[in-house]
Amino acid sequence: MAKESPKEIFLKDYKLPDYYFDTVNLDFILKEEHTLMHSKIHVINRQGTLSPLRLDGVDVKLLSIRINSKVVKEGEEYSLSSKHLILHHPPATQFVLEITTEIEPQNNTALEGLYKTTGNFCTQCEAEGFRRITFYQDCRDVMAKFTTRIEADKSLYPVLLSNGNLIEQADLPDGRHYAVWNDPFKKPCYLFALVAGQLVSRDDEFVTCSGRKVALHIWTPTQDISKTAHATYSLKAAMKWDEEVFGREYDLDLFNIVAVPDFNMGAMENKSLNIFNSRLVLASPETATDADYAAVIGVIGHEYFHNWTGNRVTCRDWFQLSLKEGLTVFRDQEFSSDMGSRAVKRIADVLRLRISQFSQDAGPMAHRVRPHSYIKMDNFYTVTVYEKGAEVVRMYETLLGKKGFRKGMDLYFERHDGQAVTCDDFYAAMRDANNANLANFKMWYSQAGTPVLTVSTSYDAAARTFRLKCRQEIPPTPGQPTKEPMLIPLALGLVSPKGKDLAITSVHDGESLKFLKDEHGNGVTTVVLRVEKAEQEFVFADIPERPIPSLLRNFSAPVRLVSDISDEDLLFFTCS
Ligand code: PHE
Ligand code: ZN
Repeated sequence: MAKESPKEIFLKDYKLPDYYFDTVNLDFILKEEHTLMHSKIHVINRQGTLSPLRLDGVDVKLLSIRINSKVVKEGEEYSLSSKHLILHHPPATQFVLEITTEIEPQNNTALEGLYKTTGNFCTQCEAEGFRRITFYQDCRDVMAKFTTRIEADKSLYPVLLSNGNLIEQADLPDGRHYAVWNDPFKKPCYLFALVAGQLVSRDDEFVTCSGRKVALHIWTPTQDISKTAHATYSLKAAMKWDEEVFGREYDLDLFNIVAVPDFNMGAMENKSLNIFNSRLVLASPETATDADYAAVIGVIGHEYFHNWTGNRVTCRDWFQLSLKEGLTVFRDQEFSSDMGSRAVKRIADVLRLRISQFSQDAGPMAHRVRPHSYIKMDNFYTVTVYEKGAEVVRMYETLLGKKGFRKGMDLYFERHDGQAVTCDDFYAAMRDANNANLANFKMWYSQAGTPVLTVSTSYDAAARTFRLKCRQEIPPTPGQPTKEPMLIPLALGLVSPKGKDLAITSVHDGESLKFLKDEHGNGVTTVVLRVEKAEQEFVFADIPERPIPSLLRNFSAPVRLVSDISDEDLLFFTCS
């Protein structure tokens, strides 16, 4: 078998797949010495192309291949390398592809694909783990409806779980049993999951806004089940919050969470079968701190919210990772803010961003929110993609307002439900829903580095005007020596020496004069300036006394702020 060396993959090389997968039937026969796997895929040749069909597969032993029930032969009809199975001449229309393989989950220590953790079988397919289960087109834009049959020893593995609804379950001879799961929603294979083992569940129910009952189960080993009350509470709160804040209802009658001790990342949003590292599910007053409780709420929310931002609308390719992660982090931050203290949560998130993400952006690992190339995708689950990505989403909200942002989200779901899309599609939905001018905002996705925003101020008592000069500069980062100015929302207030927000009634941004009014017709106390050029001046009229500017309120943009505000004025905010 030929060995393939690692390859760099570029965003600019993206092309639509030639072959789509429509329905996929997976049959797992779980045994101690190996797992036998049969897949039956309905393949659609999109344009009648004659190009070969390339399937990904790593550490998978091939037993047989059939196309439309006919055996396919090695050499002339297919070839195998260490990472791929290539079918040379698939039919030019539709066909049924059947592949039988063997894997050894008990020897899989990658924590990717199908593996064993404390005696249970468990999967992890994001980013590229499905290829360790069977040969498949392991890419995001191939979305299929999965039916999964799992067969195992009943006493060792009494619980058999996969995505979607349980449609059949029965005992077999020799102490074995099976379950069949069907997921009615099409999905890329990174959202596939399977769990088989000795688990018990805490059961509850959620009634959705349209009155549908959803059965909720949180599965753990017996000794952990008493620590799942808070996770259940968090899940129900998240389901309700997504309905109230984003109008998003859960879409199946069942939702499962499994907590396992061996899990590399925090948790995984597999469709209707979220899998968590135990530490992010389990909490009891004896063992958990307030911070632990808050983390459970945040991560349960995060994975649940992926059902709409990630699963129903998914990513076209891995370069778009921030499309689902940045957006879902933003959503979990907002959820935690509403569940606890908004100010405390924002301060904690901004601290984390400034400590971890700003240093990443200033060092040799600096990269764009939407990377332009990768060798191993696993390395791109970074604070830049997640946390800076969430700040980019938050900036849309700051620029468009809460209502405008919601309109953009509604349009995004309306246009793209069931699709695999890009950050450009999200940007377009936000822009179109609001008729907004977001001209050079998109560069937040393509320019790495933390912008430096330098602000100098002056007050003219005779003219009663307050002037603010802004300069933006984005430092060079590896591979990007020069940068363009981009749209930075700068939220600010002008505070009187007595500590009151002054009413701001107008601002001149160098091009035009804009009048500002709140809903009662008075001036506003916080204004969001659009800093778009390398240098720009803003003038506020009718300011009765020298104000103390309160800049970058709510940390309205992920920038380093440099200003000429005196220490005395800065101290004023901490004391007033
Ligand atoms: N998609 C997961 C999340 O953000 C993170 C994850 C990535 C988990 C890759 C496992 C592997 O919720
Ligand atoms: Zn996520």
